[in-house]
Amino acid sequence: MSNKAAWLMSPKAHPLTIGDASMPVAGQGEVIIRNHAIAINPVNWAIQALEVFPVSYPFIGGNDAAGEIVEVGPDVDAFKVGDRVLALAEGDGSREHEANAAFQLFFSAKVNRIAKIPNHTSYAEAAVFPLGMATAASALFQKDTHALPLPQVPPVPQTKTILVWGGSSSVGACAIQLLVGAGFEVAATAGAHNLEAMKDIGAKYVFDHKKQGVAEDIINDLGGTDFIGVFCAILEAEIIRLCGYIANKLGGNKFVSTVLPPTVLRQDGMPAGVETCNVWGTTLFENEVGPQVWGNWIYTALANGSLKPAPPPLVVGKGLESIQKACGRWRAGVSYQKVVVELD
Ligand SMILES: NC(=O)c1ccc[n+]([C@@H]2O[C@H](COP(=O)([O-])OP(=O)(O)OC[C@H]3O[C@@H](n4cnc5c(N)ncnc54)[C@H](OP(=O)(O)O)[C@@H]3O)[C@@H](O)[C@H]2O)c1
Repeated sequence: MSNKAAWLMSPKAHPLTIGDASMPVAGQGEVIIRNHAIAINPVNWAIQALEVFPVSYPFIGGNDAAGEIVEVGPDVDAFKVGDRVLALAEGDGSREHEANAAFQLFFSAKVNRIAKIPNHTSYAEAAVFPLGMATAASALFQKDTHALPLPQVPPVPQTKTILVWGGSSSVGACAIQLLVGAGFEVAATAGAHNLEAMKDIGAKYVFDHKKQGVAEDIINDLGGTDFIGVFCAILEAEIIRLCGYIANKLGGNKFVSTVLPPTVLRQDGMPAGVETCNVWGTTLFENEVGPQVWGNWIYTALANGSLKPAPPPLVVGKGLESIQKACGRWRAGVSYQKVVVELD
């Protein structure tokens, strides 16, 4: 077996270069995955086009992957060769993690960052989840974020309502499904053409984010509910202000954003009393959230059909050569679609 990767050879190099890569070896607590599908996240484009993070060149990126285990480390007993898994890979830019990045044919992954997938879930479907799910779960369940009870199969009803702004985004769709799994009543915003899809993945209340006066509609419709706060998956100052306004009016004074740090959020016009925080998509693996969501809920919820691949995969090509095109496809704009490349 030999390995190949899609390399970013130097800052802003375009396109990615397909070339040989080291064959990874499974260390303690690791498995080697033969990669069958990868998905694109905004950060993949941003590292290449904007140099948002310092990375060591040549660099292998990629966070979302799904494939088959071909080797297990000496101390691994929860997984075996042949298991079909999804993985949150570590395309974080350091030499140390080069073997853990997704944009290659084989990569190593820590066992706490992989989840088994049932036979009825294709690799392309499984690849839509990892970073979106990790980010949403970190935002909803950690003690320093929304601190909600964890999702379970079957869900334990909570009779409380929460708003997901940007429900048709990758992070937002994962948030809706995690919240439904945790027993909450979910309100979601999306484009008008995606409102039915939001209901299909469990949102009880849906709102067209482009409709004039949408904030007042949300406040009116959710006014009688036990409202606990907002999770915003959209990085726009105006949207963040609007979410703060809604949280404040509905008395669920907690606002969690995917990106901006609390100081920026406050300066950006959060109403007094709205507690704000941001989230980083990998922190769930440092606390109790990762083991329940990755180690338990994803498989059981996929297996019984309550967790659906969402946004659905938009397969734009095959092979590592298609990853650059896929980044461009994401950049051109997606609407409730997760851009995916199949690797064989
Ligand atoms: N902190 C972290 O660790 C972390 C991790 C992952 C992502 N992120 C960030 O989270 C954000 C979302 O990423 P993603 O991959 O989920 O995005 P995405 O799937 O590419 O988002 C596309 C969706 O955004 C929706 N949208 C755009 N503007 C909107 C608005 N004003 N109101 C409501 N929805 C709107 C569109 O909805 P319609 O087509 O329905 O109109 C579209 O479906 C990005 O800023 C990303 O950088 C952060």
